[in-house]
Amino acid sequence: MFEASVDRSQPKPDLYRDLAGAVEALLAGEPDALANLANAGALLKDALDRINWCGFYLLKGGELVLGPFQGKTACVRIPLGRGVCGTAAGKRETVVVPDVHAFPGHIACDSDSRSEIVVPILEGERLRGVLDVDSPEVGRFDDEDRAGLENFVRALTARVDWDSLATPHR
Ligand code: SME
Repeated sequence: MFEASVDRSQPKPDLYRDLAGAVEALLAGEPDALANLANAGALLKDALDRINWCGFYLLKGGELVLGPFQGKTACVRIPLGRGVCGTAAGKRETVVVPDVHAFPGHIACDSDSRSEIVVPILEGERLRGVLDVDSPEVGRFDDEDRAGLENFVRALTARVDWDSLATPHR
C-alpha cells in the first residue's frame, strides 16, 4: 500500500509544498472520490500539528452535508450562509477565524475548537463543498496556512470525480 506522510516539524511553506505533492501522489490513479477524500483528510490530520478536527462538507441539494473527516462527531447539515463553513461557501472565499467565540453564528461541533479555517472547494466556477480545519489553539491559522490549504484544495480538486458525490441524500 502507498503510504504518504509529511514532516510536520518543517517550516510551513515547505510543509505545504510537501503536502500538495503527497496528496497528488496519494490520489494518483484512483477514481473513487469517497476514498480519495477520506485519504486526503487523513493525510492532512497527520501533517498538521495543533488541530483537533479536519474534514469535508460537500454541497448536496443546496446545503453542506458532512463528508469524510477526522475528529469528533460533527453536525451533519449546514445551510449556505450559516456558521464558518456556510459563510466560506456562500462567499466562495477562505474564512480564517482566529477565535471562534468571537465569530457570530459559529456552529460549535467540538467544544475543544478555538480557531478555524474553512476553504471553499471550487471546480472551475462550481462550488463542490468546503474543507474545514479546527484547532484547540486561538490564532492557530495564519496567511501561510491559508495559502497552503488553498493549494492543497486545488491539488485535491483536480483529482476528485465530484459528480459521483453530488447525489442529494433525502
Ligand atoms: N464550526 C463549523 C461547523 C463544523 S465543525 O467545526 C466540524 C462552522 O461554524 O461552520
